[in-house]
Amino acid sequence: MARGEVVRAEPVRILEPQIPLGELPVQWGGLPVVGVDGATLDPLGLDLRGTLLLAGPPGSGRTTSLATLVLAGRRSGAFPRTVYFGPGTSPLLRLHQWSDGATDVDGITQAARRMADHLRMPDAAPTMVVVESVGDYLDGEVDQALSDLAKICASVGHSFVAEGEVSTFTGNYGTTLFPVLKNARRGILLQPDVADGDTLLRTTAPGVPRAEARPGRGYLVRSTSVRLIQVALPEIVQESDPLNVAVGLDPIGVGP
Ligand SMILES: Nc1ncnc2c1ncn2[C@@H]1O[C@H](COP(=O)(O)OP(=O)(O)OP(=O)(O)O)[C@@H](O)[C@H]1O
Ligand SMILES: [Mg+2]
Repeated sequence: MARGEVVRAEPVRILEPQIPLGELPVQWGGLPVVGVDGATLDPLGLDLRGTLLLAGPPGSGRTTSLATLVLAGRRSGAFPRTVYFGPGTSPLLRLHQWSDGATDVDGITQAARRMADHLRMPDAAPTMVVVESVGDYLDGEVDQALSDLAKICASVGHSFVAEGEVSTFTGNYGTTLFPVLKNARRGILLQPDVADGDTLLRTTAPGVPRAEARPGRGYLVRSTSVRLIQVALPEIVQESDPLNVAVGLDPIGVGP
């Protein structure tokens, strides 16, 4: 270095707490981008095929992350068809024009069976099935229908994403869906406690330190691999309307 030369330090890159999805590339490594990798700070490409469990404590960013996954699958072209199962009060109903869906237990049971028959077909368009508040469906016929659907999605390469608050997974002794999700060992654990990885995905994951516990921050679990991530924001998030992404769109036409 010549004398008198000014050395400019590279700015320190950190894992930002708010990362708009629109500022990230659509794909990374050929996979839909859903956020940023905490170790490399590169965009995070995630293979959305198969089952994915999205869990976290209240306010950890689960609903927003679900929106991000749906939009990431759509905009990358990986999953042009989207199916919503969950409560009829969800802001996700206004996210975009869903291809199909249901919002009550009987409707979800029937639609899941119908969807399973359809997705078995080799010519079925790549479909992402989203189940919001999955803890409400871990019992009886709906649980069975959703677990059959999850297995078909996993075996033929569709996407099955199940979202739930951490505490709703405990005490569901009759469920067949939860073991399907747990044994697949694929998921996003937002702001987990140290025990959550083992309890929910049979994989040890560290807890997120309190100082790091931001919405959308957590661990991506893929089999035994565990990575710190920040899930991207689907759009500018406003306090009063956490999913202000598609205001003006009509609610979905929920199928029969
Ligand atoms: N990926 C993210 N990046 C930055 N901020 C986020 C992210 N996800 C959520 N948030 C913020 O956290 C707040 C809570 O998000 P959200 O409603 O998605 O959480 P939740 O876990 O679904 O909450 P609840 O337990 O009430 O269902 C949002 O209003 C938003 O401000
Ligand atoms: Mg929520």
